[in-house]
Amino acid sequence: MADGNSETKSSNQMWGGRFASGPDAIMEEINASIGFDKKLYAQDIRGSIAHATMLAHQGIISTEDKDKIVHGLNTILSEIESGAFEFSRRLEDIHMNIEARLATLIGPAAGRLHTARSRNDQVALDFRLWVKEELQRTEKALTALIAAFLDRAEEHADTVMPGFTHLQTAQPVTFGHHCMAYVEMFGRDRSRVRHAIEHMDESPIGAAALAGTGFPIDRHMTAKALGFAGPTRNSIDTVSDRDFALEFLSMASITATHLSRLAEEIVIWSTPQFGFIRLSDAFSTGSSIMPQKKNPDAAELVRAKTGRINGSLVALLTVMKGLPLAYSKDMQEDKEQVFDAAESLELAIAAMTGMVRDVTIRTDRMKAAAGSGYSTATDLADWLVREAGLPFRDAHHVTGRAVALAEQKSCDLADLSLADLQSIHADITDKVFDVLTVEASVASRTSFGGTAPNEVRKQIAWWRARN
Ligand code: ARG
Repeated sequence: MADGNSETKSSNQMWGGRFASGPDAIMEEINASIGFDKKLYAQDIRGSIAHATMLAHQGIISTEDKDKIVHGLNTILSEIESGAFEFSRRLEDIHMNIEARLATLIGPAAGRLHTARSRNDQVALDFRLWVKEELQRTEKALTALIAAFLDRAEEHADTVMPGFTHLQTAQPVTFGHHCMAYVEMFGRDRSRVRHAIEHMDESPIGAAALAGTGFPIDRHMTAKALGFAGPTRNSIDTVSDRDFALEFLSMASITATHLSRLAEEIVIWSTPQFGFIRLSDAFSTGSSIMPQKKNPDAAELVRAKTGRINGSLVALLTVMKGLPLAYSKDMQEDKEQVFDAAESLELAIAAMTGMVRDVTIRTDRMKAAAGSGYSTATDLADWLVREAGLPFRDAHHVTGRAVALAEQKSCDLADLSLADLQSIHADITDKVFDVLTVEASVASRTSFGGTAPNEVRKQIAWWRARN
């Protein structure tokens, strides 16, 4: 576009300053989606080949025209993949860019491709295919992340660390158990991915503009050719539905939220104050001014990407919430949100998988922390219930007094003498010291899903059979 003063003058005086020409340029800029929907080229071509093949099979177009169309589309595919294809903003979107090029390549037969379809069902198809493939990639990525956690859990089934509630030391747990908590979270995410694939597994093509078509098309045939379980059942819903994109973004937001919680733990645990983990050089950076520093940048960025992904979900929900049936151009705004969230999510999962595999676990620091903060106080209370027959509420009170005494003496519970403990409750015997160690504490938590190493190993085996 020329950029001359005379043209600038002819644009709108109030708001046309930045436009080279009049309102047409503005219309083109707001209207065009080719800048981002070119990402859908492979899906668009695949959909068009399936559509043309069906049209010929049904006798709606000739086999000769179909062959020309398919050949032309394959040529365009290689042109785009080699970088030779010239995208034009004037042609608005990927659908019209490809169709215009097809006309140049094969002549009038190109005009028959759009029989019995509209860009409304075409874009619904292309985008659905893309989201479905992205969900399949996400499923694989989550499986790799779960595998990384299973390996670390196995390796550290016996490694004790403090368990936290309110980020205050609560009770000793094992690091293997903590890892398996994330396996549960990412396992749920993966099943959300699988459900989303099932929900969206219907082919939109053939819904046409919104009402279907009078041509004798076979929507079951195109659905099958494109790998869908079947065609959608309502043409109005088909062109106005973006639930598959919303489900992708919902799943992505929940997964990102899990990744962010993990990122937060990595940030906290890698501080000198906690010192539970040492990040590998591969996933940290130095400071340009403070030579001693090793920063958890990758974890911080994963935490931040979550904000971005959640933003995309809210953006698309907001785009959709006021739309009457059926298609409205507002829906063109669906793609950038999904593309951006998909890129962020893929990167975040990959970075996290790398960090989980590479991180050094400082078992000495974890163990030392596990024993501090009176983490076995519950074990003392449980012992009083079991061995001295106290009601739990009384045992809780007695234990509280023992903690206060230990605090006063600046020592741990296990360091109190038997005489100290008996001064609080006469029925305490030296057997109590068996339960005051962190190892005894975790080994005793044998309830289903509990932190005892053998229980954790059972859960690892259950997941290994499903990963
Ligand atoms: N670029 C459009 C989109 O992404 C394609 C569908 C346009 N349909 C229409 N009737 N203008 O939604």
